[in-house]
Amino acid sequence: MTRLEQLLADWIPRQRWFAGKGVPIGDVRIEDEYTLVPGEPGLRLLVVDVDQRGAHSRYQVLLGLRPPGTLPADLVHAAIGECEVDGSGARAVYDATHDPDLTAGLLDRIARGTPRGPVRFRRLPGTAVRTGLRSLVLTGEQSNTSLVFGEEYVLKTFRRLWPGHNPDLELTAALAGSPFVARPHGWIEVDLDEGGRRVPTTLAMLQRFLRGATDGWVLAAISVRDLYADLGTAPGDAGGDFAGEAERLGAATAAVHRSLARELPTDVLDADALRGLAGAMVERLRAAAAEVPDLEPYTDTLRAAYDAFARLEEPLPVQRVHGDYHLGQVVRADTGWVLLDFEGEPAVPVGERQRPSSPLRDVAGMLRSFDYAARHQLIGHADEQRLVPVARAWARRNRDAFCAGYADGGGVDPEKHRTVLRAFEYDKAVYEVMYEARNRPSWLRVPLDSIAALSA
Ligand SMILES: Nc1ncnc2c1ncn2[C@@H]1O[C@H](COP(=O)(O)OP(=O)(O)O)[C@@H](O)[C@H]1O
Ligand SMILES: [Mg+2]
Repeated sequence: MTRLEQLLADWIPRQRWFAGKGVPIGDVRIEDEYTLVPGEPGLRLLVVDVDQRGAHSRYQVLLGLRPPGTLPADLVHAAIGECEVDGSGARAVYDATHDPDLTAGLLDRIARGTPRGPVRFRRLPGTAVRTGLRSLVLTGEQSNTSLVFGEEYVLKTFRRLWPGHNPDLELTAALAGSPFVARPHGWIEVDLDEGGRRVPTTLAMLQRFLRGATDGWVLAAISVRDLYADLGTAPGDAGGDFAGEAERLGAATAAVHRSLARELPTDVLDADALRGLAGAMVERLRAAAAEVPDLEPYTDTLRAAYDAFARLEEPLPVQRVHGDYHLGQVVRADTGWVLLDFEGEPAVPVGERQRPSSPLRDVAGMLRSFDYAARHQLIGHADEQRLVPVARAWARRNRDAFCAGYADGGGVDPEKHRTVLRAFEYDKAVYEVMYEARNRPSWLRVPLDSIAALSA
């Protein structure tokens, strides 16, 4: 490894967006390197291959360069180290997403649509992009790094890279003009190697920033908190009742699903394909139960639900869907609900994420999220025992409202497709069991209690 690669091997695992936490990093190799802004401060785009016990993953690093010892105080937290970068002496290297003097160049190039060597900056036809805005890194994110330019645009830089167009760009562009998505303005791409072929790969997406929009998870959590503070009140009578929002969210979801089905390919899954999907669910259950013994009492019920799914009489309509749908992926703007982050699960290769799926998978994801919103505040609550039925009532009420809004908004009626919905809900809950057991054991009860309640 070069000195820069050694510095990255130390820095990458400490980043929030690094997906491989828990497994030690072996080698880090800079696979591709492009100068985006020459001089000092300078900006280099790195495609970095990370080897963890033979499993390779790629990440995007935007590297800032300045003369050694000259990092301004407000960039010290973004420092990576000092090393030789391009054969012209040592440099201070740092995470350039925190340097508005450098990121301004990215917005500028998208606005003009001019390439920089092999790196292509694209503006969507019919949109204008205002330049000269300073960027701030959006906090509270999980898997990527988003820059907000003057409260007008968000430039989402994808950290984990897979060869191909990112579904976030693909779907947001297909939905351009919809009131339920933040308008896309442009993107950055470069070719990435895939088995000797160079494949156009999305590095970043520019879209409208929704000023003053509130995260769906935050709104739901406030509603739950109000209800728990007022023991004895039914969810429907509480001042912070969420059901109206849940119903409108259902309708917005249905509208987006209908648009996606109109704009992008659809298909139907035959009996063989259904058996394949059910088989994958059974496999995930087996793996989870081996790791989390508390799941064991429910495995028969879950298997029975997957069997019923595998034996469905009618073929299952599939289309492009959100793929990682929950309350943290929607925001309430002045105009209503807006869906964000159509990337799917960043840990899954792009080709797989582009495969059509049942829209009920998204519905199940949101229903699981209602359950989480209600149950996670029970953990450690002084009145926990008395609140359990209240949590159930809140989740039930908002689930029903969401499903009603979804059906009224032109989606299939989830209540009429219980076998499909239940299989997806269980499958998601099993995934959550694994996730919580590994990352957040104190929350493991949330999906386990849900599985117990669902199978009662
Ligand atoms: N266009 C936008 N307008 C307003 N807020 C946004 C916008 N895009 C993202 N956000 C905020 O940033 C959060 C993370 O964005 P998201 O695209 O979901 O990134 P990640 O892939 O890291 O989850 C969102 O939950 C939302 O609160
Ligand atoms: Mg997200």
